[in-house]
Order: sequence, then C-alpha cells, then structure tokens
Amino acid sequence: MSAPPPPPGQPPSSSSTPPPADARTASFGFRTVPEDMKESLVKQVFNSVASKYDLMNDASSMGVHRLWKDDFVSKLDPGRKGPLRCIDVAGGTGDIALRILDHAREKYADRETTVEVSDINAEMLKEGYKRFKKTMYHNTPQVSFHEANAQEMSAFKDNTYDLYTIAFGIRNCTSIPDVLSEAYRVLKPGGTFACLEFSKVNNPILSTLYDQYSFSVIPLMGTILAGDRDSYQYLVESIRKFPPQPTFAQMIRDAGFKTGPDVDGGAWTDQWGGIACVHTGVKI
Ligand SMILES: C[S@@+](CC[C@H](N)C(=O)[O-])C[C@H]1O[C@@H](n2cnc3c(N)ncnc32)[C@H](O)[C@@H]1O
Repeated sequence: MSAPPPPPGQPPSSSSTPPPADARTASFGFRTVPEDMKESLVKQVFNSVASKYDLMNDASSMGVHRLWKDDFVSKLDPGRKGPLRCIDVAGGTGDIALRILDHAREKYADRETTVEVSDINAEMLKEGYKRFKKTMYHNTPQVSFHEANAQEMSAFKDNTYDLYTIAFGIRNCTSIPDVLSEAYRVLKPGGTFACLEFSKVNNPILSTLYDQYSFSVIPLMGTILAGDRDSYQYLVESIRKFPPQPTFAQMIRDAGFKTGPDVDGGAWTDQWGGIACVHTGVKI
C-alpha cells in the first residue's frame, strides 16, 4: 500500500490524513507517514527518476556532486593497502562503484578490488548495469548488482567486506539504526564504514542561500528535465530531515563503530560547509 504523492501545488509539510497517534511513523520529506509506507513511497520516487537520475544530478548540483564523490573516494584511497572487497549500498546507478574501481586501477594498477552494488530499486540498478556495460568492468568479477534493502541484508554474509560505502542513500531509508547495524554486521573487523550524505549547513548566510536555491530551483528543474516536481521536492525535503553531523556520528557509534572525535575533520568531514558530509567509522 502506498500513499499517492501530494498533488502539484499542495504544501508537502504534512500528510492530509495524519496517522493515528499511536502509529509508528517516519518522515517522508516534510510529511509524516506510517512507517511501513515510507519504503514504497521512496521506491516510487526512484522508479520515477531512474532514467533521468544522472542527468538531474548533474543539473541540480551544477556538476558539484561529481567533486564530492571524487573527494569521497579519493580519501578512502581504495587499493592503497591492496585489493579490497567493497559493498556500495543504495548504490543506484553505480557512481561510487565506478569511482572505486577506477581509483584502484589508475592509482595502484589494482584489478582485483571488487564492488558489489546493492540497491532496493531494480530500475536504478538497471541504469547502473547499462552504464557498466560501457566499461572494462562489465562481465568481470570486479562488479555485480544486487537488489536489496539496506535495512535487511540477510543475503550478505557476516564479516565479509573491507569497505562499506553508502552515498546519498541512507536518508531515504526508514530506519537508519537498522542500516548501520547491517553495515556493522557485513563488514570485517577493521573494515571501514563510509557515508556521503547531505548534511547541516552551519553558516547562516550559506544556509539561507542554499535553502533558496534548493527549494526553488531543484523542484523546478525536476519539472523541466524529468517531468516530475514531487520527487525532487521530496529529495530536497528529505535532506532537511536528516540528523545533523554530531547526532549521526553518535548513531554510528551506537551501532558499534569507532569514530573520530565530534568535530569537522574527526568523526565527519564537511564538504562545502556541510552541504554534503562524509562520516566514517571502523568496525572494532
Ligand atoms: C539519491 S540515490 C543515490 C545513488 C548513488 N549512491 C549515488 O550517489 O548516485 C539514493 C538511492 O537509495 C536507494 N534506496 C532508497 N531506500 C533504500 C533502501 N532502504 N535500501 C537500499 N537502497 C535504498 C534508492 O533506490 C536510490 O537508488
């Protein structure tokens, strides 16, 4: 069962029929929805945007998402200590997987690092698969695609991966603690959890400018380029609902990971003043 997205023009700040007071709820952008509905609503969003996802990412961030992702992967430096077994969760069209494999190959002549791309959405994975067909990794053991919910990864064994990445994905999941606990389970002891996500901008001037840009320009671009305003409105709103840096760092520790101290450059590293942010943790 899924609730229809609000009709165009309807303020998305609250659901038209609020769930009963004792119901378990989740945020879907600025709407509060019954917890068991969020997953299908998010699925509708990514079903709708899948074929235009890469184009819209470039347009809405003016290409900046590429810099954030490049920086994310280059700091992880895959291949430096030898080949890695990686899992890229909520991996969508494979942006992070491709960067991991390219980095390891170009910098360390490493053709043994592998990435398993997992995502809940078959349409997004299909786009990723098509894209990898154009690369040298297609039909090699270096990349594979798996449909899976980040909150319930029972198809993936305990203590398996050296590196777990999740980029711009965790805020779409209904239960962040469940995602983190599955990340902890599938990583090897000593393995790294790395999350790239939109986060909290602390500078008030940057924050105002960013709000104006994202709430007016991004849904408009969604309408023009993808014919879908509501999905992009959701994506912008979901960013504002994501916990700020110290709160998310604590959630990572609560899952069992060791992090750096609660400062920029410690448990997390802000990109562009916190518009995006990288959190890392190590399984102990
Ligand atoms: C904004 S896209 C990010 C894709 C890719 N990581 C990137 O950086 O370009 C978010 C992805 O999260 C996926 N997703 C949402 N909820 C999920 C869940 N519960 N489990 C796994 N993937 C999920 C969506 O299907 C979508 O592909």
